[in-house]
Amino acid sequence: MKTKNIVLLASGSGSNVENIVRYFQDRPDIVISAVLTNNKDAKVLERCDRLSISGLYFNRMSFYDTDCLLDILEAFNPDLIVLAGFLWKIPEKIIRAFPDRIINIHPALLPKYAGKGMYGNKVHRAVKANGDAETGITIHYVNENYDEGAIIHQAKTKIAAEDSVERIVEKIHGLEYEHFPKVIEKLLASPSR
Ligand code: GAR
Repeated sequence: MKTKNIVLLASGSGSNVENIVRYFQDRPDIVISAVLTNNKDAKVLERCDRLSISGLYFNRMSFYDTDCLLDILEAFNPDLIVLAGFLWKIPEKIIRAFPDRIINIHPALLPKYAGKGMYGNKVHRAVKANGDAETGITIHYVNENYDEGAIIHQAKTKIAAEDSVERIVEKIHGLEYEHFPKVIEKLLASPSR
């Protein structure tokens, strides 16, 4: 049995990280090698402790100005690098080193609500302010432009006029927890990987 391994990157709470870790915990053929974060105060590090997963903090220099993080990622030799609420732009050298092996989840129906500064609750507040009747999630490959890589999967949910931003967040998280691990599983099962 060939083991597949995933490296997760996250910047904040990490509820998607936890959901993915739990989804694969009974799968000896799929290993979460590590969770890497650019935020030393991120709640995701507490989740890593609780889940007995390696959680590593890195700073801006190691990501953008040196090859430190690139070397660390290459040492893991991941089948998939998964951005689960990760907010920094991925440098080109890392994208080049892992072609078609970096995916992101975005909490909107791309190409809507995309680009620098459009993340997390900012997206949901904009969706609410525009009175949209639906929103959703997009799982896509990462390229050198924010939120522009090829789309792998989208899922939608309706928004009622009375839904608060908090309710929209809940609906989006529900979609993320349902779809993200399954999409990862499917990608890892593809013969080209
Ligand atoms: C998720 O909703 C994810 O889609 C979003 O951040 C949230 C992280 O939640 N990602 C982005 O906005 C990326 N542009 P979590 O930390 O609880 O998993």
